[in-house]
Amino acid sequence: MSSTPAVDSSDRLNNRRLYLVGFMGSGKSTVGRLLAAETGCEFIELDAEIERRAGCSIRQIFAEQGEETFRELESSVLKIISRRPPPVVVSCGGGVVLREENRRILQETGKTFYLHVDPQIAWQRVSNDEKRPLAQDEQQFFRIWDARRQLYLKSGIKLATDRLSPEQIVDNILQLL
Ligand code: S3P
Repeated sequence: MSSTPAVDSSDRLNNRRLYLVGFMGSGKSTVGRLLAAETGCEFIELDAEIERRAGCSIRQIFAEQGEETFRELESSVLKIISRRPPPVVVSCGGGVVLREENRRILQETGKTFYLHVDPQIAWQRVSNDEKRPLAQDEQQFFRIWDARRQLYLKSGIKLATDRLSPEQIVDNILQLL
């Protein structure tokens, strides 16, 4: 009797943790969710995990405790997630690259892709989204982008996403693995 071997699609991640970084509005969550579904892997959104553990929204954390407290939480939750058994897809918040300790975790515990988006397009997508405290003011938004662009570049493999659908971005990532 012949039997067809079971195909484990999560092998397509080569048993790795895969991190997605990029500016607000670059599509990290959409792409991450799709990639996880396609490969049958667990999907974790760092921001959602922060909110779950803190028991309140990112917006509330920024408003009531300030950005520095948010960054502390972000680092400690990333540390916890980075010990999760692979394969897993992790979509990170846009500011995860700011801290050297976070960049080291990304580098040492998985493979990172940087979803590059034109900042003008990003602004169109997220401006005044009340869930994003750092997308309320146009000048501040572009200042933050300028301050971070090099950090994104050195944190992961760059994928230009502007002209691609989420499905095409997922295909590109799978080819680059
Ligand atoms: C932030 C991006 C947000 C969230 C927080 C701070 C940033 O995530 O982590 O509002 O500093 O760029 P998204 O990149 O998913 O918007």
